[in-house]
Amino acid sequence: MSIRRRAKITALGRYVPPRVVSNHELAEMVDTSHQWIVERTGIHERRWVEKGTPASELALKAIDQLLKQRGIEADEIELIIVATVTPDMFFPSTACVIQDKIRATRAWGFDISAACSSFIYALTTGAQFIESGHHDKVLIVGTDVMTSILNPDDRATLILFGDGAGAVLLEPSEDDEYGILDYYHEIDGSGGEHLNMPGGGSLHPSTHETVEKKMHYVHQHGPAVFKFAVRKMEELSRNMLEKHDLTGADIGAFIAHQANMRIIDATAEKVGLIPEKVIKNIHKYGNTTAATIPLAIGDAIDDGKLKKGDLVLFAAVGAGFTSGVVLARWAY
Ligand code: UT7
Repeated sequence: MSIRRRAKITALGRYVPPRVVSNHELAEMVDTSHQWIVERTGIHERRWVEKGTPASELALKAIDQLLKQRGIEADEIELIIVATVTPDMFFPSTACVIQDKIRATRAWGFDISAACSSFIYALTTGAQFIESGHHDKVLIVGTDVMTSILNPDDRATLILFGDGAGAVLLEPSEDDEYGILDYYHEIDGSGGEHLNMPGGGSLHPSTHETVEKKMHYVHQHGPAVFKFAVRKMEELSRNMLEKHDLTGADIGAFIAHQANMRIIDATAEKVGLIPEKVIKNIHKYGNTTAATIPLAIGDAIDDGKLKKGDLVLFAAVGAGFTSGVVLARWAY
């Protein structure tokens, strides 16, 4: 049994497609308005891929940036974990597609399906392989092409989501004070009915009928998800702080899944976080599902809001319901 050691994030890459889609543009497609979208969600614009762009393609661009930043070759990566609800296809996994494209000849890997929580599920999973001593370089990728599963006629979901990708590298921390300090995750499968994509799986294999019934699109009962997200994000954040004798004021950066500005603000207020330490970029990207957290890490670094030594609290709630928090001390 190897000695337990911490995992730390040592590099980041991210990518969003260049096409900016404003609320005004959406208001020409469905019955909505810029004002409604901003007031109810905080979203001003999002990025959309050109139709037919797979999730792996966005991921590759993020990974390329990460490898250059860290100055390593892809064949040094030992494990690839891909968080996504929009894999290129059911199988092989998008991890396999990426492994081949980047020629990560020593790597194995797999996809994780936990919807909007999948990036932090992947982070926690990857950390295990560093902590156990099995691997020294684990690539965590969050990538989603949400536009591939959005109903263009459903104003309630069309306005929420965007496309994007982000990747981080996990490596062992030489200093026990830095890196991923703790994590906690939950599933409440009774919430599955409120947010799902029912068609195309073994329950409802794709047929003309499933397509006619639009079962290949995202279906959401927004208010139920909203209520659960606010309650759960607060509960898990608060528990994690209490466990470590911390208060909201100790958190140097709160990086939550970007689903709705009101969910993030409500959590921040209830947990006593300092408003300037709450990282928000939903206004420019919308909800990119598995990519929101790495995209937000990148923006926090760019804006000087995430520096070496900062305590970071990651939090997410997503379809499932899945949820979780990860506490880390930022290491670079
Ligand atoms: O990341 C995965 C997890 N997902 C989430 O966390 C999403 C959580 N849910 C939410 O963020 C919010 O529930 C939404 C933003 C999706 C919706 O906001 P809401 O305040 O919960 O609105 P609602 O669904 O209760 O709808 C209120 C009204 C309805 O009209 P009536 O019945 O009051 O006449 C909707 O039909 O707003 C209407 N509406 C819209 N109006 C203009 C719904 N979507 C739109 C729209 N534009 N895009």
